[in-house]
Amino acid sequence: MQSTLVSAPETAPPMMGQPAPLLAVEGLKVHFPTRDGVVRAVDGVDFQVRAGQTLGIVGESGSGKTISSLTLLRLAPPPARIVAGRVLFEGEDLLRQSDKRLAQIRGRRMAMIFQNPATSLNPILSIGQQLTEILRWHTGASHRAALDRAAELLALVGISDPAARLKQYPHELSGGMKQRVGIARALLCEPALLLADEPTTALDVTIQAQILDLLAELRQRLAMSMVLVTHDMGVVARMADRITVMYAGRICETADAATIFNAPQHPYTRALLESVPRVDHSYSGARRVLPSIAGRPPDLLHAPPGCRFHDRCPEAEPECRRVMPREYLLAPGHTVSCLRRGSPGEATP
Ligand SMILES: Nc1ncnc2c1ncn2[C@@H]1O[C@H](COP(=O)(O)OP(=O)(O)O)[C@@H](O)[C@H]1O
Ligand code: SF4
Ligand SMILES: [Mg+2]
Repeated sequence: MQSTLVSAPETAPPMMGQPAPLLAVEGLKVHFPTRDGVVRAVDGVDFQVRAGQTLGIVGESGSGKTISSLTLLRLAPPPARIVAGRVLFEGEDLLRQSDKRLAQIRGRRMAMIFQNPATSLNPILSIGQQLTEILRWHTGASHRAALDRAAELLALVGISDPAARLKQYPHELSGGMKQRVGIARALLCEPALLLADEPTTALDVTIQAQILDLLAELRQRLAMSMVLVTHDMGVVARMADRITVMYAGRICETADAATIFNAPQHPYTRALLESVPRVDHSYSGARRVLPSIAGRPPDLLHAPPGCRFHDRCPEAEPECRRVMPREYLLAPGHTVSCLRRGSPGEATP
């Protein structure tokens, strides 16, 4: 079942003097009503992706990265409720399109690589059936033409003997191979925007590096935009032009990658970077997973008042416990949500 918008959006002023971004997410809120109360998984998220750009969304587990990215294509699982926001993509608000229109866009203009290659492929269909089905649905290609295109894509993602692979079933492939098939499937129709949710987390280190190389090369070759979701600072250091840092369903900071790594402003971004042994832009292939920062992210069923990071923040002041910081434009292209960096605040109950 698809999640659908259940109330009116918050509107944002149009941007002046700049070409419209390929994707603009505005005021997105996704909640899960549960027996125990409402889980505010995504609670007012804004970000943009320009043509040809890769946006990295980074944050600890449970910060709302997956639910945010699934919601772009209205794929968040039930009982997710999109309670506010807009997802403007190529001039349309995807949260307000019909299911039929969404099905036309999904896989064709915006496609997704899922975190777990083992569960994202259909176990009872051959690789060839899974790939050709998508092409035939979106493009009306003949069976023969679709098979040729599928084989071409498998070769593009580095799978040898594509004709033989097309006849195989997912269980006959290794994890790395399944993820390559997942990438090929997402690229079949040359989408304008690729969403990649932790595309290498389920894979071993050597395969991870290969898959990231492959994504970087394909992005260039196909001039695609990408939203890359990860908890791994090494991955965003290597892949992203811009980085958005998420914490507990909200965005802490967004800037270009160099600014995030060289001059981070939000205490959470700094904590993430300080807890990483060394992060630079010359990715060596070694994993740099976010190690734990003292304390734990809050339970989103009982999101704390004020700034959600206050319990763990080394700079917290008394007002941080009752005032929620709003996004503040610190410098061109650099936004931060922190009362001590100039953000305006909103008193919370
Ligand atoms: N099916 C669900 N029911 C209730 N809460 C959920 C469900 N799925 C996700 N959540 C909540 O949404 C939050 C964000 O999840 P997610 O987007 O998967 O985080 P991330 O991808 O950053 O690790 C989680 O902390 C959890 O509280
Ligand atoms: S608003 Fe306060 S608690 Fe939140 S990040 Fe800034 S200083 Fe820390
Ligand atoms: Mg996730």
